Amino acid sequence: MQNNTLIEVNDLRTYFYLTEGLVRAVDGVGFSIGRGRTLGVVGESGCGKSVTARSIMNMIRRPGRTVGGQVLYHRRETDAAGNESEMIVDLLKLPPMGDEMRAIRGGEFAMIFQEPRASLSPVHTIGTQIIEAIRLHRPVTAAEAREHGIEMLRSVKIPRPTQIIDAYPHQLSGGMCQRAMIALALACQPALLIADEPTTALDVTTEAQILELMRELQATFDTSIMYITHNLAVVAEIARDVMVMYMGKDVEFAPVDAMFHDPKHPYTVALLSSIPRIDIERDMLTTMAGSVPDPYALPRGCPFHPRCPARLPVCSQDADVPYVTVAAGHRVRCHLYEGR
Ligand SMILES: Nc1ncnc2c1ncn2[C@@H]1O[C@H](COP(=O)(O)OP(=O)(O)O)[C@@H](O)[C@H]1O
Ligand SMILES: [Mg+2]
Repeated sequence: MQNNTLIEVNDLRTYFYLTEGLVRAVDGVGFSIGRGRTLGVVGESGCGKSVTARSIMNMIRRPGRTVGGQVLYHRRETDAAGNESEMIVDLLKLPPMGDEMRAIRGGEFAMIFQEPRASLSPVHTIGTQIIEAIRLHRPVTAAEAREHGIEMLRSVKIPRPTQIIDAYPHQLSGGMCQRAMIALALACQPALLIADEPTTALDVTTEAQILELMRELQATFDTSIMYITHNLAVVAEIARDVMVMYMGKDVEFAPVDAMFHDPKHPYTVALLSSIPRIDIERDMLTTMAGSVPDPYALPRGCPFHPRCPARLPVCSQDADVPYVTVAAGHRVRCHLYEGR
């Protein structure tokens, strides 16, 4: 593995043990993200995108459990003499609520959620939360942290940041909350930013500004970004690689150009052909045959076979679907490419 890798996920499996049955929300997903790179993650609702993100953060709670795989974090440390070294830590081996995992989760990694109010505390001001985040990871005074917090709010284009820093989340509109959450996530200059449908609640102009801001931060701090979205136009704009998920599997992984111009998996092909117009956000796949299967009763073989226009007899059999490399950095889980 090249030494500019930040995070390497191998054969990740996270299941939910429900009274209704077992949900294999993430079932053998693997990918890596380089430093300063952006991975776009796409797929229909319920395919395991958010659970993948939470598993990376070692944040899965009962009834869920990450039952297999590795999340290797290539962690850089600078010692007192200024020498940099890299250690590889399997995050899934760390106690989820232990000091080390909490330091990584709150400082080196950051997460932006679809629902901004879910990650902001309602009982503290925006400033208190940002200042606390900054001071948790950097030896600065409260006054310096406050100044830095105001700068962060300004950089996410929040108007009157010197006043807004003392506001509570409920005093802000949804769009402002979203920006405040992004400021909070970026305040620590994370090595990895996981953005889980971060702009779904925002208008197109705000979305464009926030994407621009993320790009600036990425350029300045070499931040790696995992960007989960329904919006393929956004992926085309910001991602270097794209992972397509279907029913807990990573069905295709490719550099962004290959994914858009030479998609291999029939699911990816259907996804792309269902893009209506890039300026209209719409649930993808409204044009695809059939619907997502019941998560408690996945079809045997390839989970996509009942909807697949190109299925072969082998696709419905209980065989492992091969994961085929079709070109450099381009992999597909599909029998159609077997033996190529
Ligand atoms: N806390 C939970 N309890 C039970 N099932 C869950 C929980 N979170 C996610 N799931 C299930 O895991 C699957 C994947 O969910 P998720 O990762 O949220 O999908 P996505 O983000 O792609 O829309 C779904 O079937 C969902 O119902
Ligand atoms: Mg989700």
